[in-house]
Amino acid sequence: MTDAVLPPIAVLGAGSMGGAIVKGVAASGLASGVTVTNRTAAKADAMRLPGVTSVALEEDPEGNLDAAAAADVVLIGVKPAMVPDLLRRIAPRLRPGTIVVSIAAGVTIATFEQILGSGIPVVRSMPNTPALVGRGVTGIAAGSTATAAHVQTVRRLFETVGTVIEVPESQIDALSTISGSGPAYVFLLIEKLTDAAVGKGFERDAARLMAEQTFIGAAELLRASGEDPAELRRQVTSPNGTTERAIAVLQDAGLDGVFARATDAALARARELAAESGR
Ligand SMILES: NC(=O)c1ccc[n+]([C@@H]2O[C@H](COP(=O)([O-])OP(=O)(O)OC[C@H]3O[C@@H](n4cnc5c(N)ncnc54)[C@H](OP(=O)(O)O)[C@@H]3O)[C@@H](O)[C@H]2O)c1
Repeated sequence: MTDAVLPPIAVLGAGSMGGAIVKGVAASGLASGVTVTNRTAAKADAMRLPGVTSVALEEDPEGNLDAAAAADVVLIGVKPAMVPDLLRRIAPRLRPGTIVVSIAAGVTIATFEQILGSGIPVVRSMPNTPALVGRGVTGIAAGSTATAAHVQTVRRLFETVGTVIEVPESQIDALSTISGSGPAYVFLLIEKLTDAAVGKGFERDAARLMAEQTFIGAAELLRASGEDPAELRRQVTSPNGTTERAIAVLQDAGLDGVFARATDAALARARELAAESGR
């Protein structure tokens, strides 16, 4: 095995998010073996990709246990409420040193470590939906026994679906209010710009095209130029011109503070959910 190759991976629960990660890993050419499990045969069929072994638990009830026992990295992709039960089932079959990776929102590293014991390094992550198109932002946080090498392996795994940022676990919820929920903020802005275009008399299809392609084009310009967004904004904003008037209205409407308030509200909700679930 070369440094570039990822160790054998099991993804237990490959739905929207787990499935996106499996697709990224499979397409990267870095996989040395990927096994995925789902409950139903329909879901398992959707995951039959080159280099991927896809197991339906309704056909092979031991599938999770066998996949977990054979892998060096086990990614837990089921819904948060199902995580503790799945961990209790696989724990006796994990080999010491197997890295367990969580994508479950709101389930703490402590919950994982308590069930899995000290011989199993844990890395908690928070991906976002652009991972589906290889443009995700994934925050990762190391558990108490995860070494720099374990974190590096998990970083390479998530880099197959985009960008990776390492943070302490105490900041995972805060990261989630930015990059986890962030795609929804962007979609809301696109909806509102579309509505403004409709208000100016454009057909909805044309309005959507204008608003959507402007967001996509601006994001692509930002990426390709490597410029600061404030500088790119200045380039569209002639002194005393039309854009300057529009930006002044947006800033007068409190845009500066509204993202801080919105993300504070998301963070407060994450804390409420954690308190309710005891996770
Ligand atoms: N979606 C997001 O935007 C997002 C973002 C960040 C984090 N996450 C996290 O990702 C996790 C999954 O969310 P999701 O949106 O991907 O949900 P999802 O689409 O429902 O995927 C969950 C998958 O788990 C399978 N499954 C259920 N029980 C299983 C078991 N015992 N063993 C193996 N597979 C099992 C399900 O298969 P069947 O349908 O066949 O039962 C389903 O395909 C959650 O913990 C969530 O917090 C999601």
